[in-house]
Amino acid sequence: MERRENLLPYGRQWITDEDIQAVLEQLRGDWLTQGPTIAKFEAVLCELTGATYAVAVASGTAALHLAALAAGMGPGDVGLTSDNTFVASANGMRYAGARPVLVDVDPATGLMNLNALESRASELASQNTAPKLIVPVDFAGSIVDLARVRAIADRYGAKVVEDAAHSLGATYTVDGKRYLAASCAHTDMAILSFHPVKHLTTGEGGAITTNDRALYDRLCELRTHGITRDPNKLTANDGPWYYEQVELGYHYRITDLQCALGCSQARRFPGFLTRRRELAARYDHAFAATELRDKIRPLTVPTGVTSAYHLYVVTLIAREGESLIALAARRKALFLTLREYNIGPQVHYIPVHSQPDFQRNGLSEGSFEGSDHYYASCVSLPMFPRMTDDDVDYVVAVVREALA
Ligand SMILES: Cc1ncc(COP(=O)(O)O)c(C=O)c1O
Repeated sequence: MERRENLLPYGRQWITDEDIQAVLEQLRGDWLTQGPTIAKFEAVLCELTGATYAVAVASGTAALHLAALAAGMGPGDVGLTSDNTFVASANGMRYAGARPVLVDVDPATGLMNLNALESRASELASQNTAPKLIVPVDFAGSIVDLARVRAIADRYGAKVVEDAAHSLGATYTVDGKRYLAASCAHTDMAILSFHPVKHLTTGEGGAITTNDRALYDRLCELRTHGITRDPNKLTANDGPWYYEQVELGYHYRITDLQCALGCSQARRFPGFLTRRRELAARYDHAFAATELRDKIRPLTVPTGVTSAYHLYVVTLIAREGESLIALAARRKALFLTLREYNIGPQVHYIPVHSQPDFQRNGLSEGSFEGSDHYYASCVSLPMFPRMTDDDVDYVVAVVREALA
């Protein structure tokens, strides 16, 4: 097979002249930051998620930090999140001074194993450290059973923050009714990321969504140094310029420049999402072929969920009696073959429990059979809206050759 000339990465942004024009107009206008385009972008995010409030911030990581603080996390508190995620999902709690406890995943979906969540939560409660926060992660654009997560959280009075960095536009079903990712129908807050490989980009950027006015107000304050102008909260009022810092917050603001790009991108979001789903369907169809289906398997999307396909992950099927080391070696060989053909695959994710900093700080305890197996077998193939059908066919042909 002939090697393609241009690199086909696992993900990338799609910037048009219209996007560039939107940023140029913003540059020529009055506001570079702290202006009205931020509120406009937040209104767009409310439309895309169905949530009542959105607070746009500097990154998805900043969103996770602020959500952890707004959930009341602090030193001595414990929260739960998935072992298969970007480290940021756990780091948000760490920045707040709290301890993240990692939960094993289902290797078929890459999502948090909710039986493991249940037993971790009850184990913690029996040690008098009941979880105060649960952060389920919508891995690859799919969604774990959020109604069940809510029920588990309610047993302990814990808050739930959906890490929806991968799932803008995804839907899930509860009792026959459809809900959008980050709608906060079953959670207290959700976070989004607008990094260039995500569903829409602002360069760097993120947001928290919520339906709770008190959380929204607190998040707005925390985003900008803990400062308020709310007359009901001020202890004095010297004049129209007056504000007070009511707690120690951060400078996690996003700019109007970034939000101008975000608003422009959002206009094409429905098309982006449709295209991701078309590409996934094309991959799914190819991997269902007889000669491949016993060797490689796309992630299972739970019943009732429509994935937003931030990633398209395949997992190698372990052979009878195959060790994890042997499986991981075959995965590496597949990864390297894809590279040889100028395809840029990725591995999502290295289990958080195996990160040296988590190990050094005693944050990697537990049993992670599911995530260790998943990690040894997974590869993320290219998935971004600008890909062509021919690109998908090329990737599948290389995979077929690698596994022959
Ligand atoms: C699942 C998940 N959560 C959080 C983040 C953090 O987002 P950001 O890079 O915008 O800080 C990412 C980023 O890749 C992510 O994949």
